[in-house]
Amino acid sequence: MKEKYCISTLFLGCLLVQFDSSVFAQDSPWGYRCDGDTSKCIKEEATDPLIQTSFAQCKLTCNPYGVLWPKPTSVSLDDQVVPFLPSNVTSAVVAPPNVASLLDEAIAIFIDNLHKNYPKYSQDMTPRAGPYKSAANNHILHLDITVTNSDDRLSLHTDESYSLALATNGDVSTATIHSPTYFGARHALETLSQFTEYDEPLHALLIITSATIEDSPVFPYRGVLLDTARNFVQITDIERTLDAMSANKLNTFHWHITDTHSFPVYLTSRPEMTHYGAYSSREIYYAREIMHIVEYGRIRGIRVLPEYDAPAHVGNGFQWGPKEGLGDIAVCVNKEPWASYCVEPPCGQLNLANPKMYDVLGEIYSEFVNFFGPIDLFHFGGDEVNLNCWNTTEEIVNWMIENDFGLSEDSYYDQWGVFQARALQLLTTANGDQKVPGILWTSHLTEAGRIEKYLPSDDYIIQIWTEETDPIIGELLDKNYRVIFSNYDHWYLDCGFGAWVGEGNNWCSPYKGWQTVYDNNPIEIASRYSTTFDPALILGGEAALWTEQADGEALDSRLWPRCAALGERLWGNPAHNWVLAESRFIHHRQRMVRRGIQADRIQPQWCHQNEGLCYA
Ligand SMILES: *[C@@H]1O[C@H](CO)[C@@H](O)[C@H](O)[C@H]1NC(C)=O
Ligand SMILES: *[C@@H]1O[C@H](CO)[C@@H](O)[C@H](O)[C@H]1NC(C)=O
Repeated sequence: MKEKYCISTLFLGCLLVQFDSSVFAQDSPWGYRCDGDTSKCIKEEATDPLIQTSFAQCKLTCNPYGVLWPKPTSVSLDDQVVPFLPSNVTSAVVAPPNVASLLDEAIAIFIDNLHKNYPKYSQDMTPRAGPYKSAANNHILHLDITVTNSDDRLSLHTDESYSLALATNGDVSTATIHSPTYFGARHALETLSQFTEYDEPLHALLIITSATIEDSPVFPYRGVLLDTARNFVQITDIERTLDAMSANKLNTFHWHITDTHSFPVYLTSRPEMTHYGAYSSREIYYAREIMHIVEYGRIRGIRVLPEYDAPAHVGNGFQWGPKEGLGDIAVCVNKEPWASYCVEPPCGQLNLANPKMYDVLGEIYSEFVNFFGPIDLFHFGGDEVNLNCWNTTEEIVNWMIENDFGLSEDSYYDQWGVFQARALQLLTTANGDQKVPGILWTSHLTEAGRIEKYLPSDDYIIQIWTEETDPIIGELLDKNYRVIFSNYDHWYLDCGFGAWVGEGNNWCSPYKGWQTVYDNNPIEIASRYSTTFDPALILGGEAALWTEQADGEALDSRLWPRCAALGERLWGNPAHNWVLAESRFIHHRQRMVRRGIQADRIQPQWCHQNEGLCYA
């Protein structure tokens, strides 16, 4: 049986050729036609090769934004493609030496991602016989990268913009990338990888022949939080999370590394912490592993942000205090009935009355700075302090009375404020006297009337975890606080499963679908509460995975592809809602799966092949 097959390329034109269908991987009667009015790929029986193209070619060229995710600021794409092989990539880099060596790594990742487009990552990449075999074999993709700045660490001021121009001349496609920083150039390579698709009939990659992109993020802080204390998460699972983040231009991995439940960080100065606080001797992060993750992230354009949550959300790990003559560093540890002393079992808070507590806190900060440094931000946690825990601990009550602080709510908030000021001081000392902005969750301390008393707006960034209806959003912005959005009604990824304390659904049900994640627009929300705020105060946002009910086994499907929706929201803050993003999103999910991310399916594959037909 003979079949006609057409591939339009710039140089070969659209050749109508007779293939022996036996060379095709599958003998499919289907082709795809780009509908010019709707920019959708229509699946049709392949009767007219002049207008029908392969799935890959149609997806690459039909939508004005191709299959790019997150959508770049400005895009112009040609509708022609050429076949090529991932083994034929060359590069020339002009950059300061430290950046050039980072770029070598980024280019290696880029080429690896090209290989991952193949259905079987490691399989032989000889294109199928036919007139395009030699075209594919002879084609070169050349990268021409220029980076001017030597910055090799992310900060809130890093210029992540880039320009990318792709042009094809004869057998060579040249991608010209210009960026002020390494981080922009890395994003450009990610975008470039999305100009390519595996073509089933050819068994080669296709790349768009020409394109122009100008791109930069709207928000400087684009984060994913992972809690590794409720349940432990292996280093390889964290690496995979960083791989997926980099495919979505997310730039902050917020590592909520400790909590009341466990203390999995090995401290040289206090090995007792993991001895008492790790779930097992195999569930510990050592310095070299944390440093490896920090570097792994940096190469992928990601800051690894440490959180040491305090003065609540501590407990297990501190049991050695009395035995070593330091007294109780933490109080209410595992105290029952838990509901009286904390929001979820187990309880625990730092002991404000014990001066030795500050020595230990300083040691923890020193080690964290050493593992994660140089840091440009630090997360102090600061959420869900339970006053009743302190107010029912004899040592603390006596100390409050002896010092004439009193026992009122305000007295306790004052002492919490004192604690936070000391914590900032200790961190600054641990960081070689370099002050970095501290991040704190919204809490009773960040409420109107208190926040300005305890938390100077120059020193602190506030991460909002309450709902989009919380008027605190306006208060914070009007008082000039920089904020990060993590409102749980859109960006908590642990919501929507069964309860783990008792029965029914968990506390923040229902599940937040990708549409809910996508549509959470921080600027739009803020505008409901304040008409005068400075948009630069909104640093960005972060989705959070609290791991009471997840560990490495469920990690990918909890995070992905929902965090991809977050990625596009934070990169471009599009004016439209999820509907216009859907077909690119579904396609991007497939791309992440090819790269080894076990992202959830969003729809039947039929919807991917029959674009736009799965709406209610
Ligand atoms: C492209 O790579 C293939 C091997 O995958 C090789 O046979 C071919 O010579 C290369 N082409 C060029 C132009 O380097
Ligand atoms: C602490 O306990 C005392 C009674 O022992 C009570 O008067 C006070 O209101 C309590 N403070 C708080 C903040 O609950």
